Amino acid sequence: MSEITFPTIAVIGAGAMGRGIAQIAAQAGSTVRLVDAQPGAVEKACAALSEQWDKLCAKGRLSADAAAACKQRLRPSAMADLGDCDLVVEAIVERLDVKKTVFAEVESIVRPDAVLVTNTSSLSVTAIAAGLQRPERFAGYHFFNPVPLMKVVEVIAGLRTDEATCEALGRYARQMGHTPVRAADTPGFIVNHAGRGYITEALRIASESVADFATIDRILRDQAGFRLGPFELLDLTALDVSQPVMESIYHQYFEEPRYRPSVIGAQRLAGGVLGKKVGEGFYRYVDGVAQVAPEPATPPVEDMPPVWVSPRAARRAQLLQLLKDLGARIETGASPSPEALTLAAPLGFDVTTVAVVERLDPARTLGIDLLFDDSSTRRRVLATNPATRRDMREAAQALFARDGKPVSVIRDSGGFVTQRVVATIVNIASDMCQQGICSPRDLDTAVTLGLGYPLGPLTLGDQLGPSSVLEVLFNLQTVYGDPRYRPSPWLRRRGAIGLSLSHTEE
Ligand code: NAI
Repeated sequence: MSEITFPTIAVIGAGAMGRGIAQIAAQAGSTVRLVDAQPGAVEKACAALSEQWDKLCAKGRLSADAAAACKQRLRPSAMADLGDCDLVVEAIVERLDVKKTVFAEVESIVRPDAVLVTNTSSLSVTAIAAGLQRPERFAGYHFFNPVPLMKVVEVIAGLRTDEATCEALGRYARQMGHTPVRAADTPGFIVNHAGRGYITEALRIASESVADFATIDRILRDQAGFRLGPFELLDLTALDVSQPVMESIYHQYFEEPRYRPSVIGAQRLAGGVLGKKVGEGFYRYVDGVAQVAPEPATPPVEDMPPVWVSPRAARRAQLLQLLKDLGARIETGASPSPEALTLAAPLGFDVTTVAVVERLDPARTLGIDLLFDDSSTRRRVLATNPATRRDMREAAQALFARDGKPVSVIRDSGGFVTQRVVATIVNIASDMCQQGICSPRDLDTAVTLGLGYPLGPLTLGDQLGPSSVLEVLFNLQTVYGDPRYRPSPWLRRRGAIGLSLSHTEE
């Protein structure tokens, strides 16, 4: 094995993050000095880590010798002991003044060639480094909770950080079994910035009463493949954590409309409806289990009307084949017969506008979301417009449920649930690349490892077709007249050659 980059490190702050960092560093072979201001905190952390290594040993994931060596490498320490450290990782309370004071003290103790890093998730690395004598050896090193399982770390260069410092941190991350990604010092870095689209757009959709929380969760899980719906996720992280993050990133970007939080979150936070940990959030919990109302049953329909599909429907050929497979009577005339169920498949536009523009009878018109290929989804989503007749809605529901795939019916809005959320995620990711926050490759890596998305946003955009994503955004902008849907110039430019392509020099 090649030599470890930092043979002796210190971790200041023995809380959730500090412990995790100490664990993987000791496992990688570093001697780890653990420091905390709270009396007894270091001892408690060392006992917990010791237990953790015993557990890994019992599971066969670590040999007895390796576990013993890890324990031996972990050293309860005081600030005064840091003179021999090659790297000092700070994971204390998230306050700029406290972090600056601690680093000023650390700098007076360590060797001049020691590297100092902060695990901050929301403060500016440059701001923490301001006033240090050697800001070139200072960087952000942002891990995720729980550290041993979340195998990605953001390496963040402040304004004056040396390239060599970042390179050393990248090498060390790999020695600890983590994947380093490089991020510019900007609010939210990569993961917390890229994650804005999912939650904020889902909250907006809910705030427009397009669908209830559980339906939005189901749609995003089953259509776009997210492991957790946005409201399940918010319940897990709890609003007292997520709402301040949403507000902080929004304000740090000087009220950029793309990151605008929702009053839904602010009100629920004020009301103490925080999430799973208090037994009630977007869902109610009984013994830790979310209480979810069953899905509405498929209505029985005796006389299925014939179906006519708009010539401008997205994935029209596929939709016609699907209808054929479902046993529909398909009309092929230039316009629908008076009894036909009329289907549109808009990208970005709402069904009401489509019906009016295409001169369709709104009472018989529904939309279906075909941004994703139907065969790649586990749910179909239909949208009514305010004039849609009940018999037509029920006919569409029953028809699309014929092969057993669940169907959700939502209220009309521009772009359906999946289109809005996915286009927003791809657009924010594109704009991060435009800003030079990270390379396209690191963006997708950070998001898949840090947020558990099924695909990186740029790869997802490529798979769906950047022109479809752009069409959704352009039309959403028209429907809402809101700059939050303004497509990033990067998405417009790179769409034609591929979003996930990294420059060879990156
Ligand atoms: P925590 O509250 O679990 O632990 C913080 C520890 O720091 C405590 O043991 C406390 O006694 C100690 N401490 C506070 N002030 C100190 C000082 N002046 N000198 C020495 N020790 C001091 O906090 P957690 O969750 O471990 O977070 C630590 C840092 O990591 C924060 O900057 C946080 O923003 C960041 N972070 C947290 C994540 C999380 O999910 N919890 C994820 C990524 C980053």
